[in-house]
Amino acid sequence: VFAAFDLTAGTAAGLRGLLAAWSSAADRLMAGNRSARDVAEGRRDTGEAHDLPPARLTLTFGLGSTLFERDGADRYGLRARRPVALRPLPPFPGDALDPRRCDGDLAVQVCADDAQVAFHALHTLVRVGDRAVAARWAQTGFLSRRAEGAASPRDLFGFRDGTLNPRSPQSLDAHVWVGTGDRTWMRGGTYLVARRIRVRLDSWHATPVEQQERVIGRHKVSGAPLGERSEYDLRRLDARRDGEPVIPADAHVRLAAPETNQGVRLLRRGYNYFDGVDPADGRLDAGLLFLSFQQDPRRQFVPLQRRLAESDALSQHLAHTGSAVFAIPPAPAPGEFLGQRLFD
Ligand code: HEM
Repeated sequence: VFAAFDLTAGTAAGLRGLLAAWSSAADRLMAGNRSARDVAEGRRDTGEAHDLPPARLTLTFGLGSTLFERDGADRYGLRARRPVALRPLPPFPGDALDPRRCDGDLAVQVCADDAQVAFHALHTLVRVGDRAVAARWAQTGFLSRRAEGAASPRDLFGFRDGTLNPRSPQSLDAHVWVGTGDRTWMRGGTYLVARRIRVRLDSWHATPVEQQERVIGRHKVSGAPLGERSEYDLRRLDARRDGEPVIPADAHVRLAAPETNQGVRLLRRGYNYFDGVDPADGRLDAGLLFLSFQQDPRRQFVPLQRRLAESDALSQHLAHTGSAVFAIPPAPAPGEFLGQRLFD
């Protein structure tokens, strides 16, 4: 569950209090099995996760640019402390954004193996924060992973998604974690770009599989790069057959590859979503809640998305309907609350 909030607290002290209260709620929730005790003690827990294990619950909190400045106003006296790379995203060609699914002063990403546990965590944060925040938009998502092997989960196009992601500590340091070029309190944190991308399932699945594979640049069943056998085989952008590139010039993986984007890489950790039937067109509203983590969206997501929106063969099957960017401060040190150093 991903949710964005508008801050209603009037002062920086209110924001501080909210982050402290959310931090202690997060500790309790992630430890699990506390809801039973809270219920027994007559505390405010709503009880729907009573008896359930934590189900690998994780909570990730984000700060939006409007927290630091909105319409030119320094709302909480924090403008001078705004994370250096936290800027609103520019518009991209083909954007179909619904303002009701965009932006937010704060965000929380709740992940768990059990949807009931994830809902309970979000519900608890909403209640704990009810005097300081109002929910703005929320999106649920899901992913299934094969029990065996290290294969990546499939997106709703039926392809393995997430194969080529930075994974080693060195590449995470180089591309994902904030280093010395930003505020000291952001060091070890990251930036999240979220895009709700609806997929045109009809047009995609009317496309023959061989053509789908040319659009992506990988084989559908195995996830192997075109011309190779298995998912993690080397992807060779220079391979040619009969004088033609094996991976077409407008294939998604070619246009998104670091080799063709001055080395730009992102950590993609998205979720498939399904929101029922869109009353406007009578079709399934389904797609990808694209979530990417990076050191600086201005030099990573922005140029990459601009290029994909202009030239990627995949774009004709997509509609970007929601968008947000958040600074993700590092996890609090023991005894501290989330984002505490922002106020120090
Ligand atoms: C619904 C939309 C999208 C779908 C279905 C999709 C699907 C895929 C698939 C199947 C792969 C190949 C497997 C892998 O390496 O993970 C891939 C790779 C990739 N995608 Fe996407 N993608 C989408 C949107 C985006 C967006 C918006 C971006 C960035 C702005 C992006 C960036 C990348 C990158 C960087 C790679 C790795 C390319 C490489 O080095 O081979 N994708 N995507």
